[in-house]
Amino acid sequence: MKHIDSNTHVRGESVYLDDIPLVSGTLYAAVFDSPVAHGKIKSLDTSEAAAMRGVAGIFTSKDIPGENQIGGIIPDEELLAGTHVHFCGMPIALVVADSEESARAAVKKIKAEFELLPIITDPREAKEKGELIIPPRTFQLGDTHAAWSQCEHIFEGRTETNGQEHLYIETQGAYAIPQENGAIRIYSSTQGPTAVQRTAARVLGLSMNQVEVDTTRLGGGFGGKEDQATTWGVLCALAAILVKKPVKYALSRIEDMRMTGKRHPYSADFKIGLNKQLKIVAYEATFYQNAGAAADLSPAVMERTLFHCTNSYYVPNVKATAYSCRTNLPPNTAFRGFGGPQGMFVIEAAIATAAEQLHIPASDIQEKNLIQSGDTFPYGQIAVSEANECWSKTNRLYGIKKLQQEITDFNNRNPLRKKGIALMPICFGISFTKTLMNQARSLVHVYTDGSVGISTGAVEMGQGVNTKMLQVAATIFSIPSEKIKVNTTNTYRIANTSPTAASAAADLNGKATEIACTIILQRLKQLAADDLKVPADSLTLKEECLYAHGEKTNWSWKKLVTAAYVNRISLSELAHYTPPDIHFDATKEKGHPFTYHVYGTAIVAVTVDCLRGIYEFDSVKVVHDFGSSMNKLIDIGQCEGGIVQGIGWMTMEELLYDQEGRLRSNALSTYKVPDIYSVPKEIIVQALETTKENAAIFRSKAVGEPPLMYGIGAYFALRNAVKAFNPTATIPFDAPMTPEKVLMSLYPVPALEEIKEEEKKP
Ligand code: MTE
Ligand code: HPA
Ligand code: MOS
Repeated sequence: MKHIDSNTHVRGESVYLDDIPLVSGTLYAAVFDSPVAHGKIKSLDTSEAAAMRGVAGIFTSKDIPGENQIGGIIPDEELLAGTHVHFCGMPIALVVADSEESARAAVKKIKAEFELLPIITDPREAKEKGELIIPPRTFQLGDTHAAWSQCEHIFEGRTETNGQEHLYIETQGAYAIPQENGAIRIYSSTQGPTAVQRTAARVLGLSMNQVEVDTTRLGGGFGGKEDQATTWGVLCALAAILVKKPVKYALSRIEDMRMTGKRHPYSADFKIGLNKQLKIVAYEATFYQNAGAAADLSPAVMERTLFHCTNSYYVPNVKATAYSCRTNLPPNTAFRGFGGPQGMFVIEAAIATAAEQLHIPASDIQEKNLIQSGDTFPYGQIAVSEANECWSKTNRLYGIKKLQQEITDFNNRNPLRKKGIALMPICFGISFTKTLMNQARSLVHVYTDGSVGISTGAVEMGQGVNTKMLQVAATIFSIPSEKIKVNTTNTYRIANTSPTAASAAADLNGKATEIACTIILQRLKQLAADDLKVPADSLTLKEECLYAHGEKTNWSWKKLVTAAYVNRISLSELAHYTPPDIHFDATKEKGHPFTYHVYGTAIVAVTVDCLRGIYEFDSVKVVHDFGSSMNKLIDIGQCEGGIVQGIGWMTMEELLYDQEGRLRSNALSTYKVPDIYSVPKEIIVQALETTKENAAIFRSKAVGEPPLMYGIGAYFALRNAVKAFNPTATIPFDAPMTPEKVLMSLYPVPALEEIKEEEKKP
């Protein structure tokens, strides 16, 4: 089954926020945002801007009728800066005008003066100064302190991973239309319609039932619109209420890159101990998360870093501590993997350090330590593992040792081009780590002509969740997909939704849809069972025909639906689903937080041009644990997209904030993401075929985020290629490994060191 949006996508007919037909009288908003990273607002002069042609209003924090507060987890973030600004790009004033051009021109005429305050951009410095978003947390298993004495080899090190711009193709935006009796409708490009609704109500002083949020689809979210779409939805709603006119704001790319948060950069320290047999005996890690100026989702992201700090390995003695550090950068936020990749990078770096020191391939250590069913994760959950299955199938299909030998041979033959290879096993927990968020509802209507409408809390952002919802209904009702429509995500139809995130939307909303359809089907069957005088459970629907004990009856789908209507039996159902048996005790840091885990193994191979430092990825070969995929086309697409996005994070995407907290890589000319020329020449994704039961929808495991983490292998493949050229290179674990960094590490740079020494002399 194809992605149900494929036709309209290709024809340019899919409706995104910017395609919504505008109501007459619509005004346009633009934000005046802080040019400094930290300061007290001394003066704000909007008079010249207000006098400009077409300007309908300029609003500041003083105009907010409710609470000037948008913080979701912690109430620490103002919508519009009151007395202080905490990051470059923090919204201060909102201009509303009769065109986008007038609004943006007026923004340029706003004058502000600031009393500058000290700026922190480094998370370790923030931690030293006590600038923490929440108290630190520690996950612990066994006793690392006692375990070091059992280790044959102990290695320590430090790692840095940089942030990542989401670069959804559709920028952030919203369109708010005032409704009768003071209510408001907000069209929002958000992963979390309920978050927009709740926050708009809080800021406007309305009750939630007066705020309707509607989302058709997103041109990508990747986590960047889980929390941070709220700002724009609420700003439009605020302006719309104040000017009593519809207000729209679709950010330009530069505004979006400047004002929104990104993946969290992390700095970390590790210590790893192995025994003679290369078993990891003990592992310690300390994570410094660069949260930015407000909490946003940072506490939850930090928690997932801890959950995934041992990746796909069993380590009997673990101690991992994380600090969420407040800096003067835009608040960082969810990004595919949600802190998991940042945790996994560190243990991979620890293993690479051990391998380099012991002169063995890292894969020798990785393979020996893969988690097995029955092993305990540091947070207490017992693994039901596919790690070894994925690894051994990878080995069967591609021959790990053979590939490594081919690379060695190539490197021996080629003086100026070197290849590197790395294995990347993954393990990702499926469920929101905040247990209460794991709930969803689905509203299914069967209409009297036999067509079906589905509404859920899931937001379509390219990942194909609507296609999966449709497949669920088509399968349960056994009717063709043409008879089914998936509706927009709307807070009036489905209330109190969790954001579409944590890769869990298909499971949660799919299971709710399955329940709703099954309940309606049960009613239809009962009707026919009474007529046919057979038990309802002897009836099955196949291709719109009803069978009793396998024998075709004269009941069709259409006839069932009509009969139900005539007999005044409900053809609608609102169903609720929550996964059973998940819990977590944050005081003990133990529990069973995940419904299940997704596993996989990738082999990443790269060729480095050792004259120029540039590189090309030859291949990514994967065995991925789909459970039993309900849509191979979509799921393989998710793998390919995730892999490329992960490689981008690890290799070429270089976010740069200067000392003043200003984003220098603020446009597509200075921030490079993978394009068609830089994607791997070959991506092969094979499914691990399993018959094991799992709690996913139709046994089709969540697939949205896990594949991104295969991209981490790209960093280590590159590192190995560089080492093949310059075996004595000391390469800091500092991702991304840009071509510049590759070039610098290919050659010893005594000349440069000498110059630096010269400069130091008085
Ligand atoms: N795929 C596309 N095409 N666009 C996206 O924005 N977001 C990813 C992933 N795949 C994303 C995507 C992220 S961060 C998540 S959490 C999941 O999709 C969310 O959708 P799901 O729960 O339906 O997998
Ligand atoms: N994953 C993704 N998004 C989230 C989570 C999570 O665990 N918790 C809250 N938002
Ligand atoms: Mo995804 S980072 O959970 O939106």
